[in-house]
Amino acid sequence: MKSYPYQIQNWEEYQEQYARSVENPEDFWADIAQHFHWKKPWDKVLEWDFKTAKTEWFQGAELNITENCIDRHLQTQPDAVAILWESNNPDEPSVSYTYQQLQDKVNQLSHVLTNLGAKKGDRICIYMGMIPELAFAVLACARIGAIHSVIFGGFSAQSIADRIQDAQASVVITCDAAYRGNKTIGLKEIIDEALPQCPSIQKVLVYNRTHSPVSMIKDRDHWWHEEIEKVTQQGNPHFPAVPTQAEDELFILYTSGSTGKPKGVVHTTAGYMVWANYTFVNVFQYQPGQIHFCTADIGWITGHSYIVYGPLSAGATTLMFEGIPTWPDAGRFWEIVDKYKVDILYTAPTAIRSLMGFGLDPLNNKDLSSIKVLGTVGEPINEEAWNWYHQHIGKSKAPVVDTWWQTETGGIMISNLAGVTPAKPSFATYPLPGIQPVLVDENGNEIQGNNASGNLCIKFPWPGIIRTTYGDHQRCQQTYFSVYNNLYFTGDGCLRDENGMYRITGRVDDVLNVSGHRIGTAEVENAINMHAGVVESAVVGYPHDIKGQGIYAFVIFNAFHENEELTKKDILITVSKIIGPIAKPDKIQFVSGLPKTRSGKIMRRILRKIAEGELEQIGDTTTLLDPQVVEEIKRQALPPAFNT
Ligand code: WTA
Repeated sequence: MKSYPYQIQNWEEYQEQYARSVENPEDFWADIAQHFHWKKPWDKVLEWDFKTAKTEWFQGAELNITENCIDRHLQTQPDAVAILWESNNPDEPSVSYTYQQLQDKVNQLSHVLTNLGAKKGDRICIYMGMIPELAFAVLACARIGAIHSVIFGGFSAQSIADRIQDAQASVVITCDAAYRGNKTIGLKEIIDEALPQCPSIQKVLVYNRTHSPVSMIKDRDHWWHEEIEKVTQQGNPHFPAVPTQAEDELFILYTSGSTGKPKGVVHTTAGYMVWANYTFVNVFQYQPGQIHFCTADIGWITGHSYIVYGPLSAGATTLMFEGIPTWPDAGRFWEIVDKYKVDILYTAPTAIRSLMGFGLDPLNNKDLSSIKVLGTVGEPINEEAWNWYHQHIGKSKAPVVDTWWQTETGGIMISNLAGVTPAKPSFATYPLPGIQPVLVDENGNEIQGNNASGNLCIKFPWPGIIRTTYGDHQRCQQTYFSVYNNLYFTGDGCLRDENGMYRITGRVDDVLNVSGHRIGTAEVENAINMHAGVVESAVVGYPHDIKGQGIYAFVIFNAFHENEELTKKDILITVSKIIGPIAKPDKIQFVSGLPKTRSGKIMRRILRKIAEGELEQIGDTTTLLDPQVVEEIKRQALPPAFNT
């Protein structure tokens, strides 16, 4: 029997479902959507127009996503475990919440948020470590109909302030501090540094995770435990889920693009829910009772869709981990797999490559036999890492799913279905039902047939598609829907092999992928240029053994310290302050000029070659304003020894 009525079980069924999803998408998605809990059914399944970047799914329907993630499971499996939590500290006891307990926690917090004045449609910023309370916060926002904007704990005060201002958020939920490996990161302090720039914020709710000293501002800041206490003193009051429309905004998640300013990607309620659930159930082939361990942070889309909404809407057990893969040692993931008998492990190529570097010793005495499915996401996975993962972690038995998707797509777009459709190392393989990929050349012409490569676009909407960029719909339209006529443009290059399988080759725009984190080169340049001594800078990516890509910055500096290393440190501090430590360049080279065309455009192609160490393959420089500058940059280029 199928565990989920829409779970695809074999290759023939995949082909049938795929064909139907293309021929008759509305019926296809209506059949799947009927398995969810609706307060009011939809009038129309799909309305769309890529020209204006408008997509509406399940128009007219009313629902609350938390009734699908929690309430409906209470009738069938109230005592099933919803969330398992492993601390950063291996000696701290683990914690688990059944669906009933999750209901209680989310209901209490919904009351707290309402008591603080939050209401439907308000934007709530969440800046917390990976603790269960982060999941409660996300769900409580959804339950009251507020729009959450989770900000990854590695972003700086300035980045937080930019995001809060853009969304005009009224509440922040944070922690005193977060544990990460051997570090304690003072989250509340960072929030305090951001808030003077954010007049829209009225309330700050602070969860006490580490007992770090913090300053609490009168009337603005409130302790989580005190507010919960006020609610529970009145018993354990239910919080009736607020009805939302199918297309009401569920969350904003900021992501980098090729301009200097991050975009607030907006997902709405019904389509996102159906898509996160459908992709979770099919790609990972989840079976009830299994333990699903996604190692992402909820600050990224992977955590939204495959720690919170996908698994919980499917009644699954989702395992959250507070720490990092290499602390206290490089056996941490394997210890967790062994401890909880993890069935599904979903992680990033960068983590796999970094753990590979520690050899096989960390696997000693770790029983990994519970693993049934392995997944990767976030960046292209090289064959060596794929094989290591398959052989040493999956013991050559567990299928590896290489899942390609984006913040903008809400859920997995191109991937094999574990054990159901074929895998091929370093290939994401075939599209999920509902996804119609096309490859186009620079002129936007579709490239037909197999053995082809081009820019990856999607030609028909799917339920999880981006709806808008917050506060600026035109930006959404221009970035994604007007590069190529009538197509959604992904920003990725891609090839299709002789069997029609897809391999994503990486970004074709000025976006870097560093350890699976999307970072715009323009953003890093803006941050570097904030340093008082910097005249101009240009940032490019170069191949990095572990991070996938490293950041190489060419900087024109006008006021040298005596010590060049100190100057570099100053610049790194500036980038950390403006964006966050994740955007710090790996290499900085001081230059006296940048290669520019006569019209003043920086020739990044040349800088990329230099950063890659391919000094002989720079090509024609005669169109440059000053070809001499290239010679100078080449002479002083930093060695291409990766990992430095
Ligand atoms: C890249 C993460 C190759 C790609 C879910 C995409 C991948 C960007 C893969 C989105 C994959 C993601 N193979 N490349 N399996 N998965 N990417 O928005 O360049 O953080 O455009 O979403 O990561 O990153 P984002």
